Amino acid sequence: MSRLDRAAAFKRAAAVLRENDRGAYTIPTKGLYPFQWNWDSCLTALGLRHLDENRAWQEVETLLDHQWPDGMVPHIVFHVDDDGYFPGPGVWRTGRPVPTSGITQPPVLAYVMKRLHDEAGDRALARRKAQALLAKADAWHRWFYACRDPKDTGLVAIIHPWESGRDNSIDWDEAMMRVPTDGVEPYERRDTRHVDSAQRPHKADYDRFLWLLQRFRGLGWDNARLHDASPFKVVDPGFNAILIRSDSDLADLAQTLGEPEIAARARERVAKARAAFETLWSDAFGQYLCLDRVSNQLIDSPSIGGLLPVFAGLGDGARQRSIAARIEAWRKRTRFGVASHDPADRRFESKRYWRGPAWIIVNMLIADGLRRCNLADAAAKVEAGSLALIEESGFAEYYDPISGEGLGGGQFTWTAAMVAELVKRAA
Ligand code: DGY
Repeated sequence: MSRLDRAAAFKRAAAVLRENDRGAYTIPTKGLYPFQWNWDSCLTALGLRHLDENRAWQEVETLLDHQWPDGMVPHIVFHVDDDGYFPGPGVWRTGRPVPTSGITQPPVLAYVMKRLHDEAGDRALARRKAQALLAKADAWHRWFYACRDPKDTGLVAIIHPWESGRDNSIDWDEAMMRVPTDGVEPYERRDTRHVDSAQRPHKADYDRFLWLLQRFRGLGWDNARLHDASPFKVVDPGFNAILIRSDSDLADLAQTLGEPEIAARARERVAKARAAFETLWSDAFGQYLCLDRVSNQLIDSPSIGGLLPVFAGLGDGARQRSIAARIEAWRKRTRFGVASHDPADRRFESKRYWRGPAWIIVNMLIADGLRRCNLADAAAKVEAGSLALIEESGFAEYYDPISGEGLGGGQFTWTAAMVAELVKRAA
C-alpha cells in the first residue's frame, strides 16, 4: 500500500469508528449489534487511541463499570433498548442495574491495557488510567480460574459457544450434540433480518445457544454452579492463549506500576496454565485442538483457535514453526487472509460466520503472535493479507477467504480499528 493509500485507508477507518461511537462506548455495527460487546470494545480501543487516547481508555472503563461483583466481565452491556437484537435483556434477565448478558468473552482486556499504556503519547494519563483498572483486570482473571476451572487443572473451559467469540465454529459441533433443545421458549431471530442467513449460524445452533442460556438463567446466573451444570464445557486453546497472554501482560504492567502482589498472582497463574497447555497439542494435525471437558477427548477440528497459541508464545520453537507452516498451507488454498478453519477440512464453509471466513481481528492477533515467536516474515504476510481484504471489500465483519467478498455486518468497528493500527504501524 502506498503512503497515499494508507492515509486514505486511515481516514475511512476513522470515519467508521466515529460513526459507531455512542459517546462512552462503541457499537460493533448498526442494526446487527446495537450494544457494547466485550472483546469488540477492548480491541476497538486499540484503534480509537489513534484518534483520541482519552476516549480509548474510556471505552474499556465503560466496559469495566459493568463488571459483576464476582469479577466476571459480561459479554454484552445493554446500554439502551433496541429490539433489533435477539436475545435482549428480557431473555437474559441477569438482574444487573444496567442489564448485561450472563456469560463472558475472550479476555483481551489486559493485553489492550498494556499496549495503551506502553505505547501512549500521554504517559501521565496512561499511568493514571492503567493504575485505576489493574485490580479489575486481576479480579476478572481470578474469576476465570475460580469459576471456569473448578478442578484446578490450569486451563479454563467455556460453557457457551458465544463465550469463545467464535460462535458456530466446527470446534463446538460434537460437544453441542450433547445440549438438548426441549423446553426452549419460542423465539424470533433478528440477526437474519440484517444479514443473509447463509452467513449466520443455523437454527439448530440457535436452539442450543438458547437452551444453555435458559439453563444458566434457571440457576440464577450463579457462577459457582454454572460450570458443573453445563453439558457444554470445552477447553479452547485460542481462548486460553488469550487469557495467558493477557495475564502475562497484566503481570508486566502491574510490576511497572508498582503493584507487585497483582504481578505475582498473575505470574503464578501463567506458570500453571503454561504447564498444562501442551496437553492440547496434536502431532497428527500439527497444531493445538480443543479439549471436550465432558468426554475428556481432544476434538478433531483444526480451527484458527488451535493456531492462536502463538499469541501467547506457547509451545517450543518446533511447535511454533509448525503453526506457521499450517498458516502458510491454509493461505495457499485461499486467496485472502487466514481462514477461521482449515480450508482442507470437508466441513469448511467459506461464508458461514466462524466455519471458514477470515476475520481481520483474529488475523491481527495471529500476526502479533508470530512476531512474538520471531516469525516476522510470516507475520508480515498475514498483515498484508488483511490489508488486501480491506482494499478488496471495505470494512466488513468478516470475509470469504476464497473470493474476498465482505460478509456479515458492514462498516464494522473492530475491522476499522485494526486497519487504523496497521496503517499507523506502517507509517
Ligand atoms: C451474536 O449475537 O451473533 C453474537 O455473536 C453473540 O454474542
